[in-house]
Amino acid sequence: MAVSITGVDPPLLLVLLADGRLHSGEALAKKLDVSRAAVWKGIERLRGLGLPVSALARQGYRLADPLELLDAQRIRAEIDPRHLQQLRALELLFEVDSTNTRLLDRSAPPAGRADACLSELQHAGRGRRGRRWIAPFGAGVALSLSWTFRDGASTLAALSLAVGVAVARALGRAGAHGMTLKWPNDIWFESRKIGGVLIELRAEAGGPAHVVIGVGINVTLTAEARREIESSGVAVAAVADASGGLPSRNLVAGAILDELLSMLARFERDGFGAFRDTWTALDALSGRPVQVLLAEKCLYGTARGVDRDGALLLETASGVQRFVSGEASLRLIEGDT
Ligand code: BTN
Repeated sequence: MAVSITGVDPPLLLVLLADGRLHSGEALAKKLDVSRAAVWKGIERLRGLGLPVSALARQGYRLADPLELLDAQRIRAEIDPRHLQQLRALELLFEVDSTNTRLLDRSAPPAGRADACLSELQHAGRGRRGRRWIAPFGAGVALSLSWTFRDGASTLAALSLAVGVAVARALGRAGAHGMTLKWPNDIWFESRKIGGVLIELRAEAGGPAHVVIGVGINVTLTAEARREIESSGVAVAAVADASGGLPSRNLVAGAILDELLSMLARFERDGFGAFRDTWTALDALSGRPVQVLLAEKCLYGTARGVDRDGALLLETASGVQRFVSGEASLRLIEGDT
């Protein structure tokens, strides 16, 4: 079955500037068949979206760095044809409030099929626990995938961990090695957050469960973006830090979609058991002193991995306790190396 590809084209002005070279206002106006004033307005709009477009007197405009815009062909090229058959829609947007919200507002795909939505920029990107997800224009991958589980929500507690495994694999394919996973679903590089997962669920009792899996990855980060994100207390990393070069956003996005589609079919068939060994091998905190934050209290202990349902195991003075994702969050105790 063919995948339907839709999207709002980025302004042609941005397509022309994406090479990072200098373009005169006159040449831009000619190519776009508009006035110089319209070019200037367009430049102001791009700046308003956070794009660093500089103007050089009597020479023209240029972006601080070349920009790789999302490209359906390049994303599709990373997806195995068998997985591509599962994909009902691939929507690429220029800007949106949140890709998760967009898919949650849509009807669910039939069981066994998926809808994907990616955006260059999210104006209201959402993270776990009501936090914001901040990603500058074109610097990351903001992706959501909608999927319907035939058998409802009963086995979904560990889905976020399997998503982490799929994303770590995808980043490895994109040349970023050394990924680890922090329970339940942060992707880390050298103890810094490179990406996160937000899973949202719509289920009816006894019926199928519609999930929207949102994945946010920092592909590159300017010093300013790092400062902004880290002001919320989270140490961050980017795929570029882990791959020693400038990674392709389309490769990262395509590899994530491919690995998610592969994972979802297997998770539905075999459950988290099929991913537990890999998750354990990537566990960032096993054997380390941690703090578990619950709604009303905070516990200290040593992280001891996860059980077959993906629940966190914490060794405390009063024995091993288990926590399911959603009810608890985990912190590495400061000073631990
Ligand atoms: C977290 O670590 O707090 C989860 C971050 C999830 C961010 C992604 S970006 C794509 C999707 N759309 C959203 O609004 N959020 C998720």
